[in-house]
Amino acid sequence: MQKNIVHFNREKGLIYPELHGQFIEFLGSCIYDGIWVGESSRVPNYNGFRKDVVDALQELAPPVIRWPGGCYADTYHWRFGIGKREERPVTYNENFGTYEKDFNQFGTHEFMKFCRMVGAKPWLNVNMLSGSVAEMRDWMEYCNRREPTSLAKEREANGAKEPFGVQYWGIGNEVWGGSLTPADYASEYRKYASAFPSFATEENAFAKPSFMKRIACGPDGNKPKERVAWTKDFFKELAKYRPPVIDAYDLHFYNWNIKNSGRNELKFDETGWYEVILGCLELEEVIWEQYALIQEGLAEYPAAEDFFKVSEAHCKLVVGEWGNWHAAAFANQPALYQQCTIRDAITTALTLDIFHRNCDLVGMACVAQTVNVLNSLFLTEGDKCIRTPNYDVFLMYKVHRGGKALVLEQFPGSQPGDVFTFASKKAGVISVNLVNTHMKLAKEMELDFETEVLFLKAEVLTGDSPDAYNSFEQPDRIRTKEGESPERNGAVYKLTVPAASVSLYQFQIQRKIVK
Ligand code: AHR
Repeated sequence: MQKNIVHFNREKGLIYPELHGQFIEFLGSCIYDGIWVGESSRVPNYNGFRKDVVDALQELAPPVIRWPGGCYADTYHWRFGIGKREERPVTYNENFGTYEKDFNQFGTHEFMKFCRMVGAKPWLNVNMLSGSVAEMRDWMEYCNRREPTSLAKEREANGAKEPFGVQYWGIGNEVWGGSLTPADYASEYRKYASAFPSFATEENAFAKPSFMKRIACGPDGNKPKERVAWTKDFFKELAKYRPPVIDAYDLHFYNWNIKNSGRNELKFDETGWYEVILGCLELEEVIWEQYALIQEGLAEYPAAEDFFKVSEAHCKLVVGEWGNWHAAAFANQPALYQQCTIRDAITTALTLDIFHRNCDLVGMACVAQTVNVLNSLFLTEGDKCIRTPNYDVFLMYKVHRGGKALVLEQFPGSQPGDVFTFASKKAGVISVNLVNTHMKLAKEMELDFETEVLFLKAEVLTGDSPDAYNSFEQPDRIRTKEGESPERNGAVYKLTVPAASVSLYQFQIQRKIVK
């Protein structure tokens, strides 16, 4: 029996809704087919956006979506994606074996519409490899300028009178991929970050700092030595002389499963099961390490010498790309397509709980990617579309957004095969996640709330076998169902969670029990 104490009055911090972000890119069939089918398509659509995906995303209401990449951002010219669709230039995408023409039908306006339709804030990543500071600045002017400048008028002529108000801007993507050293990047970053327009007006000239957030490229989270050196060296460079503003630092972490080839996202034994579970858990220590390194780096910033000092340096850690990456993704077509079994749903839940638990350290995170690529929420093919079990996890976990993470003690502590737990509190309701990582065994649990709580409801996601997945033939083989009611004894509830499952239990706080 595993026991947990849920300290209902010990709050760890606010769970930023942005921790449940999404990432989309023209890679494989993520955007074309996955999101955009065009107005004349036989696939049911809203002005070109596929209806099934939009409807399901509206229910999910992702808080933020990152676009156009990823690697694609490194060669993406935003001007190619505006204006009349039939006149847009044709480019080519050779990233990760996509090998397809880009007719640029899904550009800035389409992305903004998509975000509005599903209720997300846009995060744009600028092209730092084949682009320029001028190109970035023009994109910002085009998106955000209210005054009738030429670029603002061009936006209006293209159908958007009101500025888009894009707040999040990524400066470069995975620049450690060979193009730059930390010192090179620091020097490029200075230029890009300093060229941000402030969008100040006569009325608010000095009133507040720019609402636009500068997100610097962080390290490769999968390289233990390099990522430490990268972060140390990058901040050391910035600290040498008048540091530029840096609002966030974007770490990428993939849970690589590339030992076995073939359809290894579908075929695995017990060893394969636990390797993938263990792999995703590594991210928590990477977060602790990188957060500490950022603080050490900021502490080395030179002290301001006069009145014009900037407010205390701060920089949030974000995880702009995360998810399982199975070897199969390299072999499958479309590029980076992989199926998602209940094993992926479990690691999705464990990863979101890592963010929840560390909400005082991480401000935003985006799963890679929303449709048809890697750890996706949807798989599409022509007019067919299924929601993977990852979608159910995101939907089930929506209750935590904007809640307060609670301190939770577990006896004995969690090991692969145990039930991993997390709890948050919002509007007097405690929501508890129970992720049973055991491949075969159901587990008995005891939750002690140290106060009187009333059971509200339970949901559970599990498959009929550990390698179960949703397919076009069986689209709802794995779906969230109502969970069993727990047994109550004062402030303590007993329950059983099925093998290989993700559960959510909710309780209403009544009054404090004096023990
Ligand atoms: O998500 C797929 C790719 O993985 C992205 O384009 C890139 O940033 C990362 O390496």
